[in-house]
Amino acid sequence: MTSRKAVRDPGGLSLYLEHRRKLVEKTLSRSLPAASVRPATIHQAMRYSLLAGGKRLRPILTLASAEACGATDLTPVLPAASAVELIHTYSLIHDDLPCMDDDDLRRGRPTSHKVFGEGVAVLAGDALLTQAFALLARIKAPKRYPIAVFLEETATAAGSLQLIAGQVADLEAEGRKLSIADVRFIHERKTAAMVILSLRLGAMAANATASQLKAVTEFGRALGLAFQIIDDILDVTQSSEKLGKSAGKDLKAAKATYPSAIGLEASRKEAARLTRKAHSSLRSLGVKSARLAQIADHLLSRSF
Ligand code: IPE
Ligand code: IPE
Ligand code: MG
Ligand code: MG
Ligand code: MG
Repeated sequence: MTSRKAVRDPGGLSLYLEHRRKLVEKTLSRSLPAASVRPATIHQAMRYSLLAGGKRLRPILTLASAEACGATDLTPVLPAASAVELIHTYSLIHDDLPCMDDDDLRRGRPTSHKVFGEGVAVLAGDALLTQAFALLARIKAPKRYPIAVFLEETATAAGSLQLIAGQVADLEAEGRKLSIADVRFIHERKTAAMVILSLRLGAMAANATASQLKAVTEFGRALGLAFQIIDDILDVTQSSEKLGKSAGKDLKAAKATYPSAIGLEASRKEAARLTRKAHSSLRSLGVKSARLAQIADHLLSRSF
């Protein structure tokens, strides 16, 4: 018999996400110096942005990827999960700066530079990025992957060929009409690279085989692009209140987005197609990857 609760929460996904979010929050809070540590301003600013909520998608993917590759104990995976959220939060603080997207609202609160000023906001981002590498350096290396591999992959994904490449191309595209291939170039770098990294670090922490690692990478490539397309769609269709960040900004700033390149309906179809592709990448992983598949569906239908 299916209970009413099960119908409202298919596969227990909401409960699972809630549980994982709590685990991640606790680990994140412990990953930074206390807010009172001198100079207090920087630690307050780091904690303000990191502990402001957020979906925690990337660390949850790290944990789910480790499970999909056979991990049963998540404790050794937590430093990698925290590291990707630290890097993501740094990228958001900088993304919101007046010299970039110039946003006042993030995760339902005033942006870092609005509260702490631009100087401290820049430095809080720098410090979060740096701390991520300290966490990775403390991982106990699984048999197949030395710590240098964790560090090198993270540096590459966050560096000027991936995350930063996407952010630069995003800035340079403002006000210009781009081909869909060029928008895709931006999205694969500014967003999908960190989604892929999150999954790969989880898989590596679980000592994944080469074929398991390949499967989660393919999953991340499709899911990461779908995720940014949905972000673009929500910017057009949702309110700032719902998103916890300023909606309608992409049109105002003439950003390169999927809806601006191909329209809303075609963007929705593309996100759905990529989600199906993400699903098929998981085939070889079997039932252990069921949560990853559910997360992909959940993200496609999200409204924030
Ligand atoms: C926002 O990321 C920036 C994008 C890459 C779209 P999220 O939508 O994951 O933001 P949080 O972490 O939940 O605040
Ligand atoms: C941001 O893309 C991607 C990164 C932070 C690297 P957006 O600029 O679309 O993200 P939001 O909409 O401000 O969250
Ligand atoms: Mg941006
Ligand atoms: Mg932005
Ligand atoms: Mg956006």
